[in-house]
Amino acid sequence: MEIQRNISLQPYNTFAIDAKADGFCTVSAVEELQNILAQEQRRREFPFMFILGEGSNILFTKDVGGLVVKMALRGTMIIRETATTLDVEIAAGENWDSAVQNAVAENWGGLENLSLIPGSVGAAPVQNIGAYGIELQNVLVCVQAMERSTGEIRIFSKEECSFGYRDSIFKREEGKEYIITSVVLRLRKNPTVHDLNTSYGALRQEIVRLFPSVKAEEYTIAHVRAAVCATRQAKLPNPAIIGNAGSFFKNPTVPLETYTRIKGTYPQAPSFPVNAEAVKIPAGWMIEECGWRGKHLNATSDAAVHDKQALVLVNHGKASGAEILELSQQIRASVEERFGVTLETEVNIR
Ligand code: EPU
Repeated sequence: MEIQRNISLQPYNTFAIDAKADGFCTVSAVEELQNILAQEQRRREFPFMFILGEGSNILFTKDVGGLVVKMALRGTMIIRETATTLDVEIAAGENWDSAVQNAVAENWGGLENLSLIPGSVGAAPVQNIGAYGIELQNVLVCVQAMERSTGEIRIFSKEECSFGYRDSIFKREEGKEYIITSVVLRLRKNPTVHDLNTSYGALRQEIVRLFPSVKAEEYTIAHVRAAVCATRQAKLPNPAIIGNAGSFFKNPTVPLETYTRIKGTYPQAPSFPVNAEAVKIPAGWMIEECGWRGKHLNATSDAAVHDKQALVLVNHGKASGAEILELSQQIRASVEERFGVTLETEVNIR
């Protein structure tokens, strides 16, 4: 496994930011990863190692002074089976949506709502990816990860992953010592209509629109996947065409009083229930209300807010990471000023 020097990361991040890595290599086997962790020379030359999946949830704001390791472990294996379920182990370097597509083709239920989310399988647990009423934690059994200091594999049960909304142990200090090598998902064999989750309003409407002649009791995971793909394609920019990393901010959870106050001025303010004392307000709505949808950082900048989804920041060509960051800071300040709500970034900023 060869280490390349001074490599542009532009092809390796979906924001298409031209940051450089001091060193860059690709690992395709667990032993390769163990070797690179153990190499004395590597440790001296590159004390800092950065693990990269498909770069779909990161904003590089400067060059990476260290070794970027592109995760390319591959493979899918059924490791357990009951009359109704399958436990499938998928290697970290597999593409997430290929795994979903494969599951739907095999008629294994559980992943269809998470269709078309960009990124690798190994990155999925880090932020507990979620969409249209489902989060990864709903289907995850465990995560296998390698300890950086020893090269040993450790298994994290679902509970040990301590998942939250776009959060897990792997985002916190204790988890950063580990490199995810595979995940085990529990999928349903031959799912019925009762196994589907079509609770997300926009999703239900899309299934009806796409399949007007299919009765609701005949819906399958393939219908759900088709509707999720169509909804995402209509709203979210394709990173192969316009640089972006999906939702830039998290949807903030606010106390009920805050929401009531906001509703006083904006009776149409949308919300999602969280518990008796709190709701989530879609950050995209607040950003749009502040007038940001479709706006550029300035007349000459390629850093902009997507015109169909204000929660998504885009690079129309030559934006730097610093410009996207500057735009995000201006957005944050205006939401704070108008709504008194602080937005947290969902994308990792480096
Ligand atoms: N909205 C606006 N204007 C906008 C965007 C949204 O008014 O420009 C309001 C609308 O009221 C809309 C509501 O926000 O009904 C929700 O919008 P949408 O369904 O597009 O979802 P979201 O809350 O913006 C979240 C996730 C997405 C996920 C969708 C669908 C986060 C940070 N984002 O977005 O995840 O696909 O729900 O479940 O939770 C991602 O994490 O990168 C991502 C794309």
